[in-house]
Amino acid sequence: MKLDKKCIVITGGTSGIGYELAKYLNLDNEVIVISRSTSKLNKLAHELEGLVTFQADLSKLEDIEDVTDAIVKRFESIDVLVNNAAVQYTPTFLDDEFRYENIAHEITLNFTSVCNLTYLLLPALLHNHKAAILNINSGLALAPKTSSSVYCATKGALNIFSQSLRHQLEKTNISVQQVFLELVDTSMTTGRGKNKMSPETAAKHIIHGIEHDIPDHDIGKVKLLRLLLRLAPSIAQNIMKKF
Ligand SMILES: NC(=O)c1ccc[n+]([C@@H]2O[C@H](COP(=O)([O-])OP(=O)(O)OC[C@H]3O[C@@H](n4cnc5c(N)ncnc54)[C@H](OP(=O)(O)O)[C@@H]3O)[C@@H](O)[C@H]2O)c1
Repeated sequence: MKLDKKCIVITGGTSGIGYELAKYLNLDNEVIVISRSTSKLNKLAHELEGLVTFQADLSKLEDIEDVTDAIVKRFESIDVLVNNAAVQYTPTFLDDEFRYENIAHEITLNFTSVCNLTYLLLPALLHNHKAAILNINSGLALAPKTSSSVYCATKGALNIFSQSLRHQLEKTNISVQQVFLELVDTSMTTGRGKNKMSPETAAKHIIHGIEHDIPDHDIGKVKLLRLLLRLAPSIAQNIMKKF
């Protein structure tokens, strides 16, 4: 699908990968960004002409219901939904700074909200032209690291959900796609990792994947990870364990 004059909803478009997607796609499309912070949304709307913003805390069901209702009322149809917003808590279950209340928040935002938002926006995505649901996933969905166990599990769940939804929607106009990213240099990974991909590069790969209808799009080192998981699974799992 050529991304030109399309109506595109991006969650978490105020920073990192979502911001780069919004910036680039806003040049030729109608872009709607849903995010939590009003001040960041105002700054974004000021910077990117024509961009439409909606404030919502996607970890809250009532916010998801309100925002999807407002979008459906204002826009006749949607061509692309990018489920991007997520959070990652890094402490292990044994660390003093581990907060058990973060477990529910991380699962709700990273996984449940994607299911709810997708379901509530589905009527606007079902129409006579091509449409896409793109779930932003991670190499950690394929093999977990030691820290961020709940995050890894939400991404694993997102992978299975995406594949099943793809089966459900195969006779419709909607293609369900996933992008599996390597480590990207955003606020989510501040102070961690080396040789990280820039969010600009990640966004360019993601857009290429949507335009070429790639169902499961491995980016950067994830290509190697998937190959290694096939050829030597225990070596791949061990590398990811120490990641
Ligand atoms: N960075 C990486 O290395 C990496 C690797 C693989 C996959 N990913 C995935 O890529 C996606 C984007 O990550 P990123 O690195 O770009 O993260 P980021 O820079 O931390 O951006 C996260 C975005 O999500 C929004 N958000 C957070 N909590 C929210 C909530 N409760 N309701 C609504 N919006 C909320 C944030 O807005 P506010 O600031 O307003 O809260 C922000 O716009 C995520 O799905 C992540 O799992 C990232």
